[in-house]
Amino acid sequence: MENNNTPLIELRNISKSFGETKVLRNINLTINRNEFVTLLGPSGCGKTTTLRILGGFESPTSGEVYFEGKDISSVPPYERESNTVFQSYALFPHLDVYDNIAFGLRIETLEKREYPNVELTKKEKIKKFFYNKTKKYTETEIEEKVNAVIKLVNLTGMENRSVTNLSGGQRQRVAIARAIILRPKILLLDESLSALDLKLRKDMQYELKELQRSTGITFVFVTHDQEEALTMSDKIVLMKDGNVEQQGTAEEIYNEPVNRYVANFIGDSNILSGKVIDSRHVEFDGEKFLMDETNFPDGTEVDVMMRPEDLDIVYPSKGKLTGVVDSIFFKGVFYEVDVTLDNKRIVTIHTTDYIPAGKKVGINFDTEDITLMEKMK
Ligand SMILES: Nc1ncnc2c1ncn2[C@@H]1O[C@H](COP(=O)(O)OP(=O)(O)OP(=O)(O)O)[C@@H](O)[C@H]1O
Ligand SMILES: [Mg+2]
Repeated sequence: MENNNTPLIELRNISKSFGETKVLRNINLTINRNEFVTLLGPSGCGKTTTLRILGGFESPTSGEVYFEGKDISSVPPYERESNTVFQSYALFPHLDVYDNIAFGLRIETLEKREYPNVELTKKEKIKKFFYNKTKKYTETEIEEKVNAVIKLVNLTGMENRSVTNLSGGQRQRVAIARAIILRPKILLLDESLSALDLKLRKDMQYELKELQRSTGITFVFVTHDQEEALTMSDKIVLMKDGNVEQQGTAEEIYNEPVNRYVANFIGDSNILSGKVIDSRHVEFDGEKFLMDETNFPDGTEVDVMMRPEDLDIVYPSKGKLTGVVDSIFFKGVFYEVDVTLDNKRIVTIHTTDYIPAGKKVGINFDTEDITLMEKMK
């Protein structure tokens, strides 16, 4: 039942425990064709475990993995339509760039050609593989494919280099080339860019995104870097302690975070405690403010979030809030100004104007820039 409305891959009610330790708690996740999905969250929140379950390297304690509408929970990694680039890259040190990339084609060939319709155990396959020298692709065909992929990942001219003396970024591109040459439907990438320096990482972010667009392969990318997630993803899945806190586009998560954790993880934010008065009013900082319509019931205690770039500094008499500038830091494109409000709470504002510390200021914002969030338990 392969059609374009069926999600490519789904996790349904996935939980995972290692012994007594619960690592994933009822994860539900839908990944569509051609999507660039990022699993984002702090160390230990369960990103790698989720990726390993998608790839079949780990089986869930409960729940199912669906691929194109079929339950593949018990299908082993080598029979899945996914390919994984591990953080360590795991290249073959005795092979050069070309042979590392060609490796998968040579193997796949041997297994698939001889026994197209026969169910074999993994052991049998490996055994047959060593006895069977028939190839699906000739070396000329392999050369064509390898050269095309080498061009795609910008490694032209490096074919005969040993992988042991490549830079981190180059090694990574070999690992990606080796994975995409098999034309998997899904590419799973675990913290693939974290070992690179900032400049190279930015270049690779761009290249990876381009690669995803040009190949149409669905990417599931793991990172703990929020900026990387914002730049690259069609969909961000933000995790915490084995839960998915929120999933959505970068804009949705940035503009409509569901709670304090999400707001703090993605971007800078000011969060004040408040209370919903009615569908158009919220109270915080001892005052009542007009806001866009909300669905929170009257009287709900909420966290009120405002992004630093949505706050404007104005004359004290013109401000919805007033306070005194506490500190100002030049950040390149803007100044980061901390203002201590009259009630001693501090808010951060991004502005292109220089405002000296000690100055009394007013703060203004639009009603639509007030985001109400559920209080966290
Ligand atoms: N094989 C295992 N046995 C026991 N505990 C494990 C095992 N694998 C992972 N864990 C635990 O599960 C939790 C989630 O691990 P996971 O590797 O998925 O986190 P992560 O989000 O990828 O973190 P990081 O950003 O540090 O890579 C951690 O507390 C980890 O210690
Ligand atoms: Mg990890």
